[in-house]
Order: sequence, then C-alpha cells, then structure tokens
Amino acid sequence: MWWRDAVLYQIYVRSFADANGDGHGDLPGIRAKLAYLEWLGVDATWLTPINPSPNADWGYDVSDFHGVHPDYGTLDDVDALVADAAARGIKVVLDLVPNHTSSEHPWFSDPAKRDWYVWADEPNNWTSTFGGSAWTKQPETGRYYLHNFLPEQPDLNWWNDDVRKEFEETLHFWFDRGIAGFRIDVAHALVKDRELRDNPVVGKARDPREERVYNMNRPEVHEIYRDWRAIARAYDPERLLLGETWVSNLAELAKYYGDDDELQLPMVLSLTLAHFDAAELREIVEGAEQTFPEGTVPAWCGSNHDIVRFPTRWCGGDEAKIRCALLILLGLRGTPILYYGDELGMEQVAVPEDEQLDVAHSRDGARTPMPWGARPDGSWWIRHGDLTRNVEDMRADETSTLWFTKRLLELRRAEPELRSGSYASVDGDPSIWTWRRGDAWAVAVNLSDRPRAVKGLQGTIRLDTGLVRTGEDATGKLRLGPWEGAVVGD
Ligand code: NOJ
Repeated sequence: MWWRDAVLYQIYVRSFADANGDGHGDLPGIRAKLAYLEWLGVDATWLTPINPSPNADWGYDVSDFHGVHPDYGTLDDVDALVADAAARGIKVVLDLVPNHTSSEHPWFSDPAKRDWYVWADEPNNWTSTFGGSAWTKQPETGRYYLHNFLPEQPDLNWWNDDVRKEFEETLHFWFDRGIAGFRIDVAHALVKDRELRDNPVVGKARDPREERVYNMNRPEVHEIYRDWRAIARAYDPERLLLGETWVSNLAELAKYYGDDDELQLPMVLSLTLAHFDAAELREIVEGAEQTFPEGTVPAWCGSNHDIVRFPTRWCGGDEAKIRCALLILLGLRGTPILYYGDELGMEQVAVPEDEQLDVAHSRDGARTPMPWGARPDGSWWIRHGDLTRNVEDMRADETSTLWFTKRLLELRRAEPELRSGSYASVDGDPSIWTWRRGDAWAVAVNLSDRPRAVKGLQGTIRLDTGLVRTGEDATGKLRLGPWEGAVVGD
C-alpha cells in the first residue's frame, strides 16, 4: 500500500526537461532530472500522456495506447526511466485516457469497430466540456458520434465488452513493464447512459445549461474499477489507480473507493475550486475525513495542467501564502500530488492569445517550461514564465520555498505520524486552521493578515514557513504572524 505514504509529483512531460534540445520535454529529459526529484524527496511521478497523439488536446487524444510518442522517446526509454527511477526509490505512474481516443486512432475508422464508439441518429442535449454540442455528424455514416471533449476525441462505448477487454490488456501491458500505476483521465465519465437521455436543464431557457447527470458519473462505472482493481492487486507491489474524479459531492466521490476494491485514490479536486480561506478549505477536508470510508486516504492537489497554478490562484504570487498552501497540502492526512514547479511557487503565466496552443480553453499558462535556471534553457514549444523562481538559484538558497518544500518532505518521511497519523481539527480562532496529526503532532496555519495565536498544543516548532523558528517552544500558546504556519511536534 505504498501510495498511502507517498508524495506524488505530476510531470507535464512536454514542458519538464528536454534532453535533445528539440524544444519540448522527453523521457530522457525526465531521466536526467531524477537526481533532482530524489533530492526533493518525492516518491512517485505521474507523467501526463506519453502515447502517440496528433496533439489536438496535447496527448489526451491518444492514437495508440501501447506506444510512445516519438517526441518523447521509445519504449526502451520508458524501461530505462523506470529502472533508473527505481534505483532512486521513485515509482513511475502513467496517464491512461480510456474515455475517448483520437479520431485518428485506427479503431475510429474501422467499420468493424463502429460499436466501440457512441453513436446516435440525432444529438441529445449533451454539451461538450469544451463548449458546444457533444455530437458531431460523421459524413460516411450520416450518424452522430459523441465527444465529451473535442470532436477529435470521440468517446468510447464502455457498454461494449471488447472495449473493456482491450483496456484490461493495456493495463497488463504497462504494469508488466514495471509501471507503478495509472492516473485515469476523467475517471468518472467512462460510462454513458445506455438510453442517451437528455440531461436536466438547469439554466434559463435561453441559456440551456445542463446538469451532467447522464453523460458522467453513472453508477455502472464502478464495475469497471472493480475489474481494474483486481488486475492492479495481482501485481507486487500493487499497482495504483489514481482517478481524475471531478465529482464535487463527497458522498458520490467516496463511492470510487468502493469497498476497498475500486480506485485507491480518487482525487478530491473540489479543493482546487475553494478560495484560499481557512473555513472553506477546512470544510472540504473535514467533509472528506467524515465521508470517506474507514481505512482510505484522500488525494489532495492544488495545481494541475488544467487549472490555474495555486501560487497564482490562491496566493497571488505571495511567498508567505505559497508556503502556507504547501504546508496545507503536505501536512494534511492523505496522499499529496505536487504539480511540477509547485515546490518553487511557480506561477501561472499570461500567454498572449496569439501564442496560445490549447484549443480547448487557455490552459497554456499552467504548462510552461520548468524553470531549471535563471536563463531559458533553449527554445521551448511554449514560452517561459518569469524565471526569478528557478531551481538553480533556489537550490543555492537554503531559505527558499524550494528548501521549505524539501524540509517538509524530509520531516514527513522521518515521522510516521505526519505521513499516516489521523487528522483531528483543533477548535479555536477560525482563521488559524489547526489540526493534530496522530498523537504527537500538530499543524497550524494562519490564513489571515493579522497575528493570531493557537492554544493547547504541546511540543516545539519542528518546521515553520519562514524557516527561522525551529526548536521554539510551542507548548501552551503558539503565536503565528500573518500568513505563517508551523509544524509542532515533540
Ligand atoms: C482531463 C485532462 O486532464 C485534460 O487535460 C483533458 O483535456 C481532458 N481530460 C480530456 O482528456
């Protein structure tokens, strides 16, 4: 059950590290940065899709589930990465996109595989996540195919047993190669209503917003994950199924754990929709603590490649706030997922409209190159952001946010209660969110502009967001400055 104690690190492969200088990241690039990841102290990386793809949706339109995109390398590069990562104690998790394929996948043009996709004679009212109708007419058949995303991403028909068999083989294919698990793209969306019923309309008549009831989160999706978990469990170590589960109702989300026989980690993405406000964040965390089945761990993240990076969204670039956010993500009970650059406080980049590469929404600003140094390391497929926060300089400065993240990961590794101890909130001033971890530890974060104090803790400060108060006695009363946080232990 390695994922319970792990810190995951999401790599947007195209932007992380470019070994051959052709302008985009690749697998040998990641391999060359394993020493950095080991130094930082993460346990596993999740790589965004590495499969061949026409890149209508930058890798999330897969044209061969068993292959590697030539931009990123070869299967041999995957094997070499897995082996080198293992030598440093790091696992490699890949991204699986089972909801849809690329329209250029050979299955989509194979008449024998028509039923592998979702067809209708007339569109229903479902809209695509990227806007507009979710249906496009295919000239050859005169029928409409479903795409919950781009027209270049036709949805697969998960009522078809051959589709299920195919993906089970895909799981085996990668698990046999030593891949530690999969992040599952839109994990809650695979199964569609068999009768393709219209979604309920919740907006005004002129603005027919629909509630996605029939094209997502159908009860039958759970059967798929029970099958997949049985496959994952048969491997040693057990393989991880990490769900991209945009399900904001926590009781619904809890169902993805099944009876410990579905996903080990359905992500609690609603946290990223909350404001950076103690009461709002706490409500989600405590809701998850109360709702999720006994013995499970929640999976937390603040950033990813689809949303505005948290150092900008939550913290407006403010260093003190960024450290508070990192302390929350890494100090809660659960499995945290850092997005590359989070450890630096890497910010969202304003990519001018004429440079935008993402046709869906503009998510480019969260996908800019990892800032390894103060100067651009070559010419990249997408512009760099501000390079002031970069690995080289921040690694040389032991007071930096990078070192704060590293120290926090070190402490988590050294102290079992910080990894898997229980979560119990401490009542008090609502803007200092304070929680105990296990018997001997507590984390307190002042999410306000004014100094505050928390009473009743025992022990000394073992780490603080400013990296200046280690060893200070916190017994009785812990005072915290504005946007300051600390870990207290014995
Ligand atoms: C979620 C992925 O994270 C996103 O980047 C993609 O556009 C959609 N799923 C469709 O695959």
